[in-house]
Amino acid sequence: MSQRENNNNKSKKMDQTPIQTEVQVQVEEQSQCTCSDSHNHNHQGNALIPVCAKIIKIVQETSDVKTFYISTLDDKKPFDPQPGQLGMLSFGQYGEAMFSVTNKGENHIEMAIKAVGELTFALHEAEVGQLVGIRGPYGNGFPLEYCKGKDILIIGGGIGLAPVRSLVMHCLKNRADYGKLTILYGARSKDDLCFKEDLFTNWRDLSNTDLFVTIDKAEEGWDGHVGFVPSYVEELAFKPQVAVVCGPPVMIKFTLPTLQKLGFPDKDIITTLEMRMKCGIGKCGRCNIGSKYVCLDGPVFTMEQMKELPPEY
Ligand SMILES: Cc1cc2nc3c(=O)[nH]c(=O)nc-3n(C[C@H](O)[C@H](O)[C@H](O)COP(=O)(O)OP(=O)(O)OC[C@H]3O[C@@H](n4cnc5c(N)ncnc54)[C@H](O)[C@@H]3O)c2cc1C
Ligand code: FES
Repeated sequence: MSQRENNNNKSKKMDQTPIQTEVQVQVEEQSQCTCSDSHNHNHQGNALIPVCAKIIKIVQETSDVKTFYISTLDDKKPFDPQPGQLGMLSFGQYGEAMFSVTNKGENHIEMAIKAVGELTFALHEAEVGQLVGIRGPYGNGFPLEYCKGKDILIIGGGIGLAPVRSLVMHCLKNRADYGKLTILYGARSKDDLCFKEDLFTNWRDLSNTDLFVTIDKAEEGWDGHVGFVPSYVEELAFKPQVAVVCGPPVMIKFTLPTLQKLGFPDKDIITTLEMRMKCGIGKCGRCNIGSKYVCLDGPVFTMEQMKELPPEY
């Protein structure tokens, strides 16, 4: 069977999806293109045209965060991201936005998405089998070579666990390459904790790995730590090692100075910057901070690099 026929058949199966918008139909028509390769590439060499993909699994993480597992129409990984890299995801007529890739499998990538606006609310209504567009990978990713052989402290807050989870998964898959992993994660409440299966099952009792979980305020049914992430970091008085921090701006604002206070050198404090993005390839000028483009030079920056950025950042 030719690639085209194969794609047509797969597209017909997609017709059974409950909601099919006009733009999804357009995306579907793109999937019937005549290119001989699989759809694991951008059409006509245009980096801004998304690859046709489908949602193959959805996991409800919290009331407003869902993880979407995404494969191409011919059951491949849409691209092969390094930990910390990003993908631009589009859905129907709702536009597109940049999301961190939280994990990758043999034939799919995963994105954890919080419902905050039109696109993400629409995605939260989507069902398995529905079509999306995806392009990437974008961004620099975490400095894996630099981290090799070192102990790593990974700090996440709320949906901010999504990008750093890709680093945790990478380190766990390549355990011998890295030193001790310490994961500290906080959310507003027990229900707001993302990736509960990792936190309460998969990452428990791993050798050479410590896990600390906190919630902002005490609540019934929670006998773990209570308090904000930055104060927990200070309380635990971690010894300097490479620290990777990702979370809401207020958490980052107070966590970075806490790490400096504990003696972490600026070059070993790593975080991600979230700027609105449009192209993802350094063309539109939407994401620049001074001379740096977050989509190309970031989103991962060290504290040392951030000090070189204009003062508002
Ligand atoms: C490098 C990078 C990585 C990202 N990774 C993820 C991720 O892993 N998971 C995830 O859910 N989202 C992530 N985002 C945010 C995502 O790209 C969208 O901005 C967000 O989901 C809003 O999409 P929307 O169109 O539904 O909301 P919109 O309708 O555009 O906005 C709805 C509301 O959310 C606020 N808002 C929108 N975008 C942002 C933002 N970037 N920062 C702060 N407030 C915002 C707006 O002010 C508005 O109040 C990332 C963004 C960047 C730049
Ligand atoms: S998103 Fe266009 S330049 Fe970065």
